[in-house]
Amino acid sequence: MKHPVRLERQNGIAVIAIENPPVNALSAAVRRGILGALHACLADDKITAIVLAANGRSFPAGADIAEFGLPEQEPNLPDLCDIVEASPKPVLAALHGTTLGGGLELAMAAHYRVAHEDTQLGLPEITLGLLPGAGGTQRAPRLIGVDAALDLMLTGKPISARKAQQIGLVDGLAGEELRDAVKLLAAETTEVKPTRSLRHQLADGARYMARIAARRAALGEGFAAQKIVECVEAALLVPFDVGLSMEREAFGECLTSDVSHGLRHAFFAERRARKFPEIGSHSARMVEKFGVVGGGTMGSGIVIACLNAGLPVTLVEQGEHGVNAALDRIGDHYKRSVAKGTLTQGQGTAALNYLNLTTDLSTLRDADVIIEALPDDLAQKQAMFAQLGALAKPGAVLASNTSYLDVAQLAEASGRAADVLAMHFFAPAHHMKAVEIGVTPQTAPEAVATAHAVAVALKKIPVRCSATPALIGNRMLRAYRRVADRLLLSGATPAEIDAAMREFGMAMGPFEAQDLSGLDIAWARRKADPTWPRAQELELADRMCEAGWLGQKTGRGYYVYGDGGAQAVPNGDMLRLLSEERAAKSVSPHPYLTQDLQDRLLCALINEGAHLLEEGIASNASDIDVVMMHGLGFPRQKGGPMNYADRRSLFEIHRLTSQFAAEDPEVWQVSKLLAQRAGERQTFGQG
Ligand code: 3HC
Repeated sequence: MKHPVRLERQNGIAVIAIENPPVNALSAAVRRGILGALHACLADDKITAIVLAANGRSFPAGADIAEFGLPEQEPNLPDLCDIVEASPKPVLAALHGTTLGGGLELAMAAHYRVAHEDTQLGLPEITLGLLPGAGGTQRAPRLIGVDAALDLMLTGKPISARKAQQIGLVDGLAGEELRDAVKLLAAETTEVKPTRSLRHQLADGARYMARIAARRAALGEGFAAQKIVECVEAALLVPFDVGLSMEREAFGECLTSDVSHGLRHAFFAERRARKFPEIGSHSARMVEKFGVVGGGTMGSGIVIACLNAGLPVTLVEQGEHGVNAALDRIGDHYKRSVAKGTLTQGQGTAALNYLNLTTDLSTLRDADVIIEALPDDLAQKQAMFAQLGALAKPGAVLASNTSYLDVAQLAEASGRAADVLAMHFFAPAHHMKAVEIGVTPQTAPEAVATAHAVAVALKKIPVRCSATPALIGNRMLRAYRRVADRLLLSGATPAEIDAAMREFGMAMGPFEAQDLSGLDIAWARRKADPTWPRAQELELADRMCEAGWLGQKTGRGYYVYGDGGAQAVPNGDMLRLLSEERAAKSVSPHPYLTQDLQDRLLCALINEGAHLLEEGIASNASDIDVVMMHGLGFPRQKGGPMNYADRRSLFEIHRLTSQFAAEDPEVWQVSKLLAQRAGERQTFGQG
């Protein structure tokens, strides 16, 4: 392996340059390299000052996250920072790119910092359930004061170089000539300025305590956040080295926490999902013109996603009524965004300028990518694909937003199967980040690469899967809802089940989520396909739809919704119907503990995920996690259901699932893969 740190010496100035692409993460080899170079500089009498810099796209973007949890290798980053700070020769850091986390901590340990004017600087450890663990909690308050330091660490958001200069995080800015500018400065610098000895920002520490207490109260239960505040209090109250050791201890506690484990898994899973086998070996086709067919809830959401990403888009709807309804939907979204202050009036209007709304399908003749988002009706979609197949230009990608229907049948209808795939968005499409790209055996790799590029341009996370009905997300949802229905029939109420899953961390419980999306969608599916598993098991949902209780949109579903956002309460009439169905089926209802509800619903997800892997529909367990986290509201802190299962132990998940299957074999078929991995004491993450 190439040496990740270079040392150059010229005219009494040494440049230690880190070279560990892509983001110069501070791996063990980099740390060893910096330490070795530093010792060489200190031993060299001709060197009067040292410049710490990085080649490539950035000064280090942090510690190497992949090394967390592995046995620590010397020198560790906190010690390296201390050694840099203790250097008797001035150390100047030349910052560029994304100087983040441990990278910024290393820079704060240097005696001076100069940043390229485009640099982003931040301490994002909290987004990984961590705190800055290389002296950042002690040095940042000394450099920039308690408030600014807490802002950096508690939000995790990077700031611009200009802002960093204003608050004293960097001493100067430079343009393209950054390295030369810092070398010149180094030649004039004789004084060392250890950050640890700066006290003026901490003077009168007592005055901060009330402010810190207020911030702590506002933080709630976030473990890392509470630890950050504790460490900043330590910076105010105890000597630097004691503060450092408190930080070290707190970092260790955060590192082993379930939350940090889940967030770190999420970080890598999101990046792994984007690695399609087609990328690299096949080029994406050029995409300049983009079309969407169907401006219902999903189609409008996809259009908004395009507009938000600055992509001009043509939306085709049927008739004047369809056009007006789509325009209202899209326009309302921007009105709400302006009212909430997330967009200015000007930005809202500007976004709409990129929209071309028409009833004329032939406008899409020269589109490069067309996403069909019509209602999930096979005949209607087949007819549309036949038309698109005939009119779209050669090489245009024809994507369907369907999840449940068989994409191969749409591909066949188009007469050009190589161009056809699924691009399935999750509601609300402009907000949820996952996009499933469902690939048939006929889909051309270039079409897959193009859909991938479109998803990335829309700032989404593409997840590749095989284009079988329901793809990943709705297979998971179906298994989850099926078990939720079973729990309902056997004694739990929707409110108990929803509360249990919210307590676990889901954005919503399964029944309130159905009320939000509308009960008529699944009703139509059940009517269209009587073999659908849920069609035979619980009649309650059908009875509710027949009564016109379609969820939030009719003010009544599993819950009754008051006017003006009043608190929803359980729908008593629905509970009466449920009791009648239990009686008719001779079911004696029994109570469930919250843990039991959670276990059954989580095992339903994990077991279905294992089936998806077994069937080759998903390639990696982490892809299923990404779909669940970014499509279906699974808590990112738990890293997705498959990671949750790995963390909890597959042995336990297998034991529980087998027990549920013994009780109710109609609903539960234990996945062979789950049994195998549990038997081998392996995880889903292994392979
Ligand atoms: N460690 C290891 N790998 C990292 C990394 C890190 N800190 N940061 C990025 N990478 C890897 C990514 O996994 C990805 O690898 P891949 O190409 O194999 O998928 C590659 O670098 C490029 O990353 P992105 O795809 O995310 O590239 P972007 O240009 O979109 O974003 C970035 C770059 C803004 C630096 C983003 O990667 C990022 O936010 N990284 C994490 C930054 C961070 O959290 N730093 C703190 C780490 S914890 C720490 O420092 C603890 C310390 O206090 C002791």
